[in-house]
Amino acid sequence: MDTNKPIIIGHRGAAGEAPENTLGSFRLAAEQGAHAVELDAHLSADGRLMVCHDATLDRTTDRSGWIGRMQAYEIREADAGVRFSEAYAGEKVPFLDEVFELLPAGMMINVEVKHAYGGKLAPVLLELLRRTDRLGSTVVSSFDHKLLAAIKKAEPAVRIGLLYAADLVDHAAYAASLGVDVYSLHPQHMLIGPDDTAEARRRGLEVYPYTANGEEELNRLIASGVSGIITDYPARLAALLAR
Ligand code: G3P
Ligand code: MG
Repeated sequence: MDTNKPIIIGHRGAAGEAPENTLGSFRLAAEQGAHAVELDAHLSADGRLMVCHDATLDRTTDRSGWIGRMQAYEIREADAGVRFSEAYAGEKVPFLDEVFELLPAGMMINVEVKHAYGGKLAPVLLELLRRTDRLGSTVVSSFDHKLLAAIKKAEPAVRIGLLYAADLVDHAAYAASLGVDVYSLHPQHMLIGPDDTAEARRRGLEVYPYTANGEEELNRLIASGVSGIITDYPARLAALLAR
């Protein structure tokens, strides 16, 4: 891989072309040349990590209800593909374990933790990362930076990534203020430019802006020297990078 080129991180898989956060979407992202995928995680009432963006099933499936108040078997009754298209009918809300099984062992998976679930999610996630030997290939990200710092303290081998949509004065200095080792910055893509990116990378941080989809913004990010781009369209980014 050309180290000057950003890696392609498929957002919720290839969410522009397949139902977000389904196995079909992750499979498509990998087929389209994504080097990594981003996904969102919640915890069911019986302690299983479920891959879904929202805290409820309402928007993305044919069922409704709060994931955190449902048993995994009930969540698995939902169809997570049919609302996107009939061609994807039968897709389920994946267990995080299933995504790990589907994608090649070394492929980077960016697990975005949406909620702390009262401190219950982190131990389940860390146990799964250890058991599946995924600590080295996963980046755990969140908008909840206190949660990330706690996760890093509980397991120093885990890689954490800061999600934010703020126009920070000094991105790398903010990361350093957490008091734990931060692996990557995940800024909203309009809120970081080439100078901030260069400084962050000089200080050892990976820079993975989210979520850029149009050719113009993808080209701007490529030129700005980011280490990866989170996109709903991995094939589109792959084509631009191949030019
Ligand atoms: O992880 C990047 C991006 O997914 C953060 O926002 O709402 O799409 O999960 P959201
Ligand atoms: Mg996300």
